[in-house]
Amino acid sequence: MKQQYSQIFATSPKPFVKWAGGKRQLIESLQKHIPKKFNTYFEPFLGGGAVLFHLLGQNSDLRCTVSDLNSDLVLAYITIRDKVDQLVESLEKHSSRYFADQREYYYSIRESAPKSQIEKVSRLLFLNKTCFNGLYRVNSKGQFNVPLGKYTNPSIVNKENLLAVSKILQSKSIAIRCQDFEAILDDARKDDFVYFDPPYQPVSKTANFTSYTKCEFTYDDLQRLARLCQRLDKKECKVLLSNSNTKEVKRLFSSKWKVVEISANRAINSDSKKRTGHTELLIKNY
Ligand SMILES: C[S@@+](CC[C@H](N)C(=O)[O-])C[C@H]1O[C@@H](n2cnc3c(N)ncnc32)[C@H](O)[C@@H]1O
Repeated sequence: MKQQYSQIFATSPKPFVKWAGGKRQLIESLQKHIPKKFNTYFEPFLGGGAVLFHLLGQNSDLRCTVSDLNSDLVLAYITIRDKVDQLVESLEKHSSRYFADQREYYYSIRESAPKSQIEKVSRLLFLNKTCFNGLYRVNSKGQFNVPLGKYTNPSIVNKENLLAVSKILQSKSIAIRCQDFEAILDDARKDDFVYFDPPYQPVSKTANFTSYTKCEFTYDDLQRLARLCQRLDKKECKVLLSNSNTKEVKRLFSSKWKVVEISANRAINSDSKKRTGHTELLIKNY
């Protein structure tokens, strides 16, 4: 019998990082498009995992394979699963040092390159909570380059949520990988559900944000993704894709695919006036 997560644990797990393009604010609109029944859930552009945690909140036994190409992010998932107590301890140290001198401490950690697993991940989470807009952005050398954010009292250690995330990720039914999205083709079967939330195609030349990894997500990648969707459709998988509302995106999908426009606010735009009034696309084969 399916059990709601809230029936078992006090806190239901939520994304532990703020992530560009994160779907937390869109969950209600997305929920209407999630199939009622499916077998395994696949999420190959995991990011902060808003949809994963939403689905696990409804059914903690859900079988899932999730992945992302950002190895720092995947290491964070693995570390929260396997070493959460050490991670919390390390984050608590960051927190107390940060509040002694925010600017100096932030930039000293941003320039640092720790070697140990715990310190690498606590650096990522610390920077995510204290950097400008919670943005993850790296330059072509893969170095994190976001300036200090304007927070007076950021919550650097959300212990309760980290413990809840750790507990749920320990489920034997959840596989976490670091791989390119196309690798899921071998594993997905009939009646599995695949949700794709790739870096979006830019709506204009100045509006692109695709620097989650040192490799950009190009139009060729999007074409590769559209071809993968066709192959998954042939395998009778249920496929749902999010993307920006552009002609280029629509053009890649034949009339067999349903295209739905939903309203979306862009939390990542540095100009808060430009964060409202946008629509984006959901494309699905069911
Ligand atoms: C729009 S974000 C996903 C946001 C996520 N849905 C959330 O709610 O936080 C896109 C993700 O795709 C990842 N990514 C970029 N290129 C990739 C690739 N070729 N294969 C797999 N993941 C990739 C990025 O690292 C980023 O985390």
